[in-house]
Amino acid sequence: MPGIERSLSAYLGSLPTLKYLFFGGKGGVGKTVMAGATALHLAQHGKRTLLASTNPVHSLSGLLDQNVYGRVVAVNGVPNLWAYEIDTKENIERSKQDIKQKIRWFLKFAEISSQADAFVESATMNPAFEESAMFESMVDLMFKDEYDAYVFDTAPTANARRLLGMSKVYSLWVNKMMKSREEARSLRELLSFTKKKEADPLMDYLVSFRERIAHARELLTDKARTAFFFVTLPEALPIAVIKRFIQWFHDFGIPVGGVVVNMLIQKDQVQPDSPEFVRNRVAMQDAYMQEIWRDFDGAVRAIVPLFDNEVRGVSGLTRVLPHAFTAQPGAAF
Ligand SMILES: Nc1ncnc2c1ncn2[C@@H]1O[C@H](COP(=O)(O)OP(=O)(O)O)[C@@H](O)[C@H]1O
Ligand SMILES: [Mg+2]
Repeated sequence: MPGIERSLSAYLGSLPTLKYLFFGGKGGVGKTVMAGATALHLAQHGKRTLLASTNPVHSLSGLLDQNVYGRVVAVNGVPNLWAYEIDTKENIERSKQDIKQKIRWFLKFAEISSQADAFVESATMNPAFEESAMFESMVDLMFKDEYDAYVFDTAPTANARRLLGMSKVYSLWVNKMMKSREEARSLRELLSFTKKKEADPLMDYLVSFRERIAHARELLTDKARTAFFFVTLPEALPIAVIKRFIQWFHDFGIPVGGVVVNMLIQKDQVQPDSPEFVRNRVAMQDAYMQEIWRDFDGAVRAIVPLFDNEVRGVSGLTRVLPHAFTAQPGAAF
């Protein structure tokens, strides 16, 4: 049976500059758990680490048994580790207010008499806006650059791809907007008798926004600093999901760090007289493990067994560590 060519610990050890780690995959596969275990591992190796979630569900507080919602909190009993569940509602509300102000200003500037509120509602009442607000929160954290390592427990949907795709769309859109703003401004200046230059907050915003996006792309596509890891179970759907993700990420030039297989039933716990249900599941997992070895050749970084209980608290994460971070790179599970 093929083995792990390069374990998660070997991988992280060989990339000491790695700073932004992301975990993706289908819902329920163990992204929060793996992000938590990885953050714990980094903290134990002396890196000041922030475990952050942009997930609207209160996942990190639940994992850590500690309220880390809305602010950065030191994780009890673990030096070098902080956790932060971003209050997305608050961020979304703030972004809405911000956009509202800018639209109002713009409508006034352009002398368009229209109800700003209706316009704002239509611009902000869609899921893409929420994703964008979440993306902004994440990027803000990355830019602040206050920790040695950031581990992001990403949202369990295709959001990541949309967000990354959006950054391209954003730049196009912003470039276009800036061009027409420049044109409108020079026309206005041409027509006005007073030649004094007017302050243009919208233009300033667009310029800084474009810079932020360029910076975010630069960080997110930098192999030395960023890696996305994908978590799967030895099951059809989670495998299909991460195959798609990995393809998308390759297309966007986002570095893929590898694949973590979670919840593999330990064979030594299964006997011929074990319940048929269990034996069937083991056979099913065997078949999907074949597929995993075949299709993620060389990219499997860890195989974590199915525990007899859910993973809760630092003690739970500590239980995951020896499996997720096997010392020998060649060790097969
Ligand atoms: N290897 C494992 N063995 C047993 N339970 C696990 C394992 N990994 C994760 N879990 C449990 O499975 C559930 C889903 O894990 P979670 O990390 O929240 O998934 P996700 O973030 O991908 O939705 C949680 O209750 C977690 O404690
Ligand atoms: Mg989660």
